[in-house]
Amino acid sequence: MGKRDFISTLDWDRAELQGLLDMARELKQSPFREDLKNKSIALVFFNPSLRTRTSFELGMHQLGGKAIVLEPGKGAWPIEFEDGSIMDGDAEEHIREAARVLSRYCDCIAVRAFPKFQDWQVDRTDHVIKQFAKHATVPVINMETITHPCQEMAHMLALQERLGSTDGKKYVLTWTYHPKPLNTAVANSGLIIAAKFGFDVTLLCPTPEYRLDERYMQAAESYTQANGRKLTVTHDIDEAYDGAHVVYAKSWGALPYFGKWDQEKPIRDAHKHFIVDAEKMAKTDDGLFSHCLPMRRNIKATDEVADSANSLIIDEAENRIHVQKALMLDLLR
Ligand code: CP
Repeated sequence: MGKRDFISTLDWDRAELQGLLDMARELKQSPFREDLKNKSIALVFFNPSLRTRTSFELGMHQLGGKAIVLEPGKGAWPIEFEDGSIMDGDAEEHIREAARVLSRYCDCIAVRAFPKFQDWQVDRTDHVIKQFAKHATVPVINMETITHPCQEMAHMLALQERLGSTDGKKYVLTWTYHPKPLNTAVANSGLIIAAKFGFDVTLLCPTPEYRLDERYMQAAESYTQANGRKLTVTHDIDEAYDGAHVVYAKSWGALPYFGKWDQEKPIRDAHKHFIVDAEKMAKTDDGLFSHCLPMRRNIKATDEVADSANSLIIDEAENRIHVQKALMLDLLR
């Protein structure tokens, strides 16, 4: 069998993901092991991070292995990703060499590469991580590109810890205001993991332009149908929050406005009231609140909600280390 990557949970079924979550729960109880002694992972960051970098570096250390952090263009050579390109620009080396050389040194490569935010039709190809996966001979892990599968797993672990079974419960993914247009990755991820794990899923967003990419909408539709559940898209705040068991907040840029962000700004600015506040949470069924972090307080959610007993933000962040250790054990042992 060839190498297995963890680029999107679309490629992993529920039972496989549940196996990782079960292992993560064990690792949370008993964090220090030597299973990955003499193994290593290259963490390639094209964008900043607090949680992802810390949890991967420490996670590998706690399993007896070693993590190397590389930031191309900042301490590591800028990389070219286009096949056949004449490399007369900034890039000093090609992905064909970078991925294969790292594969000789390391047992796994993890990549964070956000979209360029100019043309969604280009960004949606996930070209950077796909090129790593194509040329690497070791497993490749997505640390956030156009989805954020490690965040999905940490989120689901936190939800299972509080809810037990997630089947048949109501999950609301709500768009929130942010002064800048942000990546759709965590929103795509929240949508598909909730649908895969049996929730009735509601996507709450300001206007139809904030629907997520059809690849993820269709996946969520097919997962909810297969589970006998429903996917609902609404722009009505009261309808969305009514009876919800989970409210997951995220801001994202509307896909039709990619590269034309000045045209999106008036719509975004008109929906600051999508902030998650206590008045909205009061409409839920004692609902849990979460966010992937980093989160602008009193813009996306109020202090009252973020600091409430129903807030999972810190548990979810902690769970990043447990699920990523489970993933590394699964891929590298
Ligand atoms: N949630 C998350 O991935 O956090 P960082 O951007 O800090 O890694």
